[in-house]
Parts: sequence; C-alpha cells; structure tokens
Amino acid sequence: MLNNFSFKNPTKLIMGKGMIAHLSAEIPSDKKVMITFGGGSVKKHGIYEQVKDALKNHDTVEFWGIEPNPKIETLRKAIELGKEEKVDFLLAVGGGSVIDGTKLISAGLLYDGDAWDLVKKGCETETIPLGTVLTIPATGSEMNNGAVISCLETKEKYAFFSNGPKFSILDPEVTFSLPDYQIACGIADTFVHVLEQYLTKSGESRVMDRWAESILQTLVEIAPKIKENKKDYQNMADFMMCATMALNGFIAMGVSQDWATHMIGHEVTALTGLTHGHTLAIIMPGTMDVMRKQKYEKIMQLGSRVFGVVSGTHDFRINETIRKTRDFFNSLGLTTSLHEENINEDVISEIERRFNDRDVHLGEDGLVTGTIAKEILTKVL
Ligand code: NZQ
Ligand code: ZN
Repeated sequence: MLNNFSFKNPTKLIMGKGMIAHLSAEIPSDKKVMITFGGGSVKKHGIYEQVKDALKNHDTVEFWGIEPNPKIETLRKAIELGKEEKVDFLLAVGGGSVIDGTKLISAGLLYDGDAWDLVKKGCETETIPLGTVLTIPATGSEMNNGAVISCLETKEKYAFFSNGPKFSILDPEVTFSLPDYQIACGIADTFVHVLEQYLTKSGESRVMDRWAESILQTLVEIAPKIKENKKDYQNMADFMMCATMALNGFIAMGVSQDWATHMIGHEVTALTGLTHGHTLAIIMPGTMDVMRKQKYEKIMQLGSRVFGVVSGTHDFRINETIRKTRDFFNSLGLTTSLHEENINEDVISEIERRFNDRDVHLGEDGLVTGTIAKEILTKVL
C-alpha cells in the first residue's frame, strides 16, 4: 500500500546548452556571492569563464579546493573566508562534492561553533541561499537537500541534511570533459540511487515502480552509447536527467527506501578512499544476494522489466538478475569485488565494529546490522 507522504522540491531546474549565461538573473545583484570550486577541472573546459562572464556585474569572491568526498578540514577554511567577506549567497560550480561541501558552508556561515557539530547533528535548516552549476551527473545533489561530509582526521563520512539549492543549471555540454572513470561511477551511482528506492517492497506504487524502471532502462540503453561517444549531447542530456530524477525525491513518494548499500559504501570510502559510485557497484550485488528473501518480489520485477529475465525457476531468475546487475557495472568498466581494489577483511571487520558500536539498523526493515553488513561485504570480497 502507498505510504502517506508530503512532497515539495523547491529547486528551480535550468537545463540546456548555453544556460550558464542565465546565472545573473538568478542571483540578486545586491548579494555578495562566494563561488566555490573543486580542484580546477572547470578551468580546462571553459565553465569557469562562462560563470565569471555571467557574473561580471556581481560582487564575488572565490573559494577553490573542495576535494572529492569533501573534507571538514577544507570546509572550515571556506566558512572562515565567507564570514570575513560577509557572503550572503553561495554558488557551487562542480560535482556532488563541491555542491555537498557548499551546503555545509551555507549552514556553517550562520553557525558560531565548529561546522563538524552540524554534521554530527545531521541537519540544519538555517542556511544562506545557494545555487549550483552542475558539472557531473551522479549524485542528484543539485536538486536535493542532502550532503555527505568527511573528516580526514577520524576517517569518518556522514550524511547531513539542510536546504536544497534555490536553482541548478545543467548544461550537458559541460560533461564532455569528464574522465571515463567518473562517468562510470556516475552511472553506477545513479543506478543504485534508483535501486535503493525500488528494490524494497512490492505493491506500494505502480507509478513509482515504473518511474524508477524508466530511469534504469534508460541507463542500460545509454551506457554503451556513452562509452562509445561521451560527447554526444542527447546521450549526456539523458544521463543528466536520469541522475537528477533519481535522487530529487520524485521516485520516493510513498514508497519504502533502503540505503544500506550507501551507508556501507560511505564507510568503505571513508576507510579506503575508493570513489563513491564504485563502492556501490561492488556492494549492491552483495546486498541483493544477502537480502534476497526480503527483496524477492522486487528482484523478480527488476529482472523481468529491466533485464528481460522472464523464465526459469525462481532461484534461477533471482541469481540471473543479480548477475545481470553485476555485469552492467562491469560493462561500465568498474570492478565488482573488494579484493580487486586491494580491500581486505580488516576493512570489513572495522565496518562491522563501527556499525555495532553505533547500533545501526539499516534497510527498509532495519535488518542490516553490523553482522549483516559483514555478510554482504564478505559476499563481494
Ligand atoms: O575537483 P575537480 O577538479 O572539479 O574535478 C572533479 C573531481 O576530481 C571531476 N570533475 C567534475 N566535473 C568534471 C570533472 N572533470 C572533468 N570535467 C568535468 N565536467 O570529477 C571528480 C569527482 O567529482 P565529485 O564531485 O567528487 O563527483 P560526484 O558528483 O560523484 O560526487 C561524489 C560525492 O557526492 C556524495 C558522495 O558520497 C561523494 O562524496 N554523494 C552525495 C549525495 C547527495 N548530496 O545527495 C548522494 C550520493 O549518494 C553521494 O553520497
Ligand atoms: Zn550515491
């Protein structure tokens, strides 16, 4: 049965070629704007110039160096600069990491204490306004209120919730410069975002199921085409739409959600540095395998509607669907076992220990504990 829900997504989506030029109309001219960037990729492909040109009549200050898996150690410096400069609008230009980091900055600018307190608290809705120019389709951060922040010192990584962006500009052309590995991780991340909201309980919503399946089917269709030519506008536009629609709340209305794979993946990244989407490609088939009883009907549905697995015994169909999911990640060019990435039992034990310490109960029914997480990771070792 459909669960009760209320839904609101206030982010204005501005999509298409040349749309960065519209930036100035979205940010009031009396604002002091801090523009945040990652490590410099924006200078290689002309995004930097487009943004600067669009904001030439605004008062701006720049902050560079928000790294992949944004670190609190870096974000503290941005908050300090923003306070000094009396910044009252933020523009994140980059991928999920720059956008997530900037979400924490937007809360940190109005907070007197250390911003890591906000991450530990898990949420803060007192924020200054934020807009984004997205450069990599993957996280959905451009149209949601989530962020994931890491601490270098303690090797921790936690989700943090605040306010979504006021607007996000998505120009598929800016993705043409993405390295193959980032594209693969972005497709895997998008695919798993959908599965986390779909591979749960059956019979909750036909509409959500089919929206979710449409994103999965689109990804399966475009992934090989993107591998062949990553500068095709239509393919990259479809990829961008998939990524945004996968995690902006639309496919989550009234249905159960899992997120165990993500929570385990964040630990793997925190402990080893492995890229987010890649952790999911490794872990997701393990989650499906270990949770096959609970997820039985939805795995069968995924098999028949997305991968064309329609005949054979029930066990065969479940195994075949898990295999096809793993094959899909392999086809992107990603490995799907921990040992191929030199990750060993020590990491698994540490994750089990952390989850037990925190007494976690993840997944749609809260069944994924430290012990089950260990079982999942051992399956994909
Ligand atoms: O830093 P620069 O130099 O810009 O280079 C980046 C970075 O090295 C590069 N890049 C980005 N756009 C490019 C480009 N290179 C060439 N051309 C372009 N157009 O790509 C690298 C990775 O960027 P990053 O922002 O880290 O990637 P992604 O968007 O995948 O973000 C990953 C982070 O988002 C979190 C992840 O945990 C991870 O920390 N997530 C955020 C979520 C959310 N806010 O809702 C949900 C996700 O599940 C995820 O957890
Ligand atoms: Zn993700």
